[in-house]
Amino acid sequence: MAIRNSSEERASPEVPAPYGNGPSGTGVTASDTARRPGGRTRIHHLQQAKSNGEHFAMLTAYEQYTAEIFDEAGIEVLLVGDSASNNVFGNETSLPVTVDELLPLCRAVARSAKRALVVADLPFGSYEVSAEQAVATGVRFLKEGLAHAVKIEVSSFYAETVRAMVQAGIPVMAHIGFTPQSEHALGGYRVQGRGEDAQRLIHDAEALADAGAFCVLMEMVPAKTAEAVDAAISVPTIGIGAGNATTGQVLVWSDMAGLRRGKMAKFVKQYADIRTILSEAARTYGEEVRSGQFPSTEHTF
Ligand code: KIV
Repeated sequence: MAIRNSSEERASPEVPAPYGNGPSGTGVTASDTARRPGGRTRIHHLQQAKSNGEHFAMLTAYEQYTAEIFDEAGIEVLLVGDSASNNVFGNETSLPVTVDELLPLCRAVARSAKRALVVADLPFGSYEVSAEQAVATGVRFLKEGLAHAVKIEVSSFYAETVRAMVQAGIPVMAHIGFTPQSEHALGGYRVQGRGEDAQRLIHDAEALADAGAFCVLMEMVPAKTAEAVDAAISVPTIGIGAGNATTGQVLVWSDMAGLRRGKMAKFVKQYADIRTILSEAARTYGEEVRSGQFPSTEHTF
């Protein structure tokens, strides 16, 4: 008996995968990216932006599709923020999220972003104990999370920790000003660095940049203070609620695109209303299923 072609033998031909099957077909390989002008954003590109008086954009991303979309939209830096805690995992604050929860999100973002620099937040409790702990956690995010750099919420007190991480080959972004992981120590969400307190932030930024941080991120800082910090250090700065004198800007994507409901912080600009779009799509789908309108012959084999 002749051996039949296995594809003839199959009951039905193969169809496109109905669910996600990895980064969807851009057809772009790692080597294509390396060859393309405007390939992977590297730390030195952020430095160049500061030197040239240019700006770059950073958004959070927590999974494959948003990472792909933002990457293709040309967002230079993707942050796998510990804001996943209260944007993915359903917690009230960023405090409960763990290294083991963030690592798979980070891997998904890093695998999906062909051009963006991927920065991972080290979650609360994973770097404060010692420089050794910070190096060990940073290594996990580069090795297991495939991140290109990490971010930690710090003050000048952590300069030696930053130095040890940088020495170990871990690029560090230093987050100063309002640091959400210290929400309880800071007495809630409060603007930092007003008036004379600006000197404290300038001192923090200088100490952290001296220790090797490649970038300083400032959250909820008066624009004048942020400008003074930016002028005091040679590395690029990123702002969130810190005015427009910083080299880069960052927003949490679910705020920026209108996925989250509720009161937004003053510094959030909503560029879309994804929540309404998704809600209307889900409502219509539900109605069509209940009425028997879906699936029609068009969607039936
Ligand atoms: O986790 C996060 O999303 C952040 C941004 C607010 C900068 O740290």
